[in-house]
Amino acid sequence: MQTFRSDLIEGLSASPKSLSPKWFYDAEGSRLFEQITRLEEYYPTRQETALLRQTIPFWLDLIGPEAVLVELGSGASEKTRILLDAIAGLAAYVPLDISETALQAAASALRADYPHLDIRPVPGDFETLPDLPDDLPSGRRIGFFPGSTIGNLDRDAAIKLLAASRRMLGRNSLFILGVDLIKDRETLEAAYDDAQGVTSAFNMNLLHRANRELGTDFDTNSFRHRAIWNEAEARIEMHLESLRDQTIKLDGHRFRFRAGETLHTENSRKFDRERVVALAEAGGWSLVEMRVSTSPYVALALLRPKE
Ligand code: TRP
Repeated sequence: MQTFRSDLIEGLSASPKSLSPKWFYDAEGSRLFEQITRLEEYYPTRQETALLRQTIPFWLDLIGPEAVLVELGSGASEKTRILLDAIAGLAAYVPLDISETALQAAASALRADYPHLDIRPVPGDFETLPDLPDDLPSGRRIGFFPGSTIGNLDRDAAIKLLAASRRMLGRNSLFILGVDLIKDRETLEAAYDDAQGVTSAFNMNLLHRANRELGTDFDTNSFRHRAIWNEAEARIEMHLESLRDQTIKLDGHRFRFRAGETLHTENSRKFDRERVVALAEAGGWSLVEMRVSTSPYVALALLRPKE
């Protein structure tokens, strides 16, 4: 099994150095991320929330009665509530998350506000999506994957997730996919490097977490957060850049950083219509419709299983 320790050792041994973004989300990381979503510069949450509110009424006919909403990587977020409020006659809500704790907290918060809704939390990760409970109501399955989280997966992982969702949701399903769109460098880089330094703290938390949990000796003052728009790859890259030559110790290992060398911590891929269509098709879905927000642009794509 990949642990934080084994992943970090592997990532620091690689060239270029990298680390999986899944280690961002300890309690402090989750708190910082929550704060990011409320930043002026971080437009995706705000834009997607407004777009969802505006768009769902147009999709209600397709969703139909007694639908079952399946959210991937759920939270008790405002976005979920928009759907629960807008889809009259929703038969069940299935939040799917790796964190059992997050799942139970979300479920009980929602149960208090939606006492008549059948809420069925299912633990599972994006790599091996679980089967849905077999006693769910029989309405159309609606997958929901917001927040441009698909952009944090590389192309292969994104295709696998879409294909697994297609299998899990069945032939009559629909899939609502939230993506961030390609735009000017300035807007993109500011969204991942805000003036208050919250995103920097979020990224740097990885080093603090490693020091806390693994006993590494990262001198956090000699690293800095970088957010870079890689236009050729259409992705924002987050890095932690070493400001000097230094050596990090972890267990028996020693890892050298040269001044300017980075630990690559995350990608956030950005899309346009062609890229959404290509990705959806590769994962077994066709695009029904793509709705775009006001500027700064994000999009919601409605997908249906490919014939
Ligand atoms: N999926 C979002 C995005 O890529 C959320 C996210 C993941 C994020 N890591 C982040 C946002 C780091 C800001 C900073 O935009």
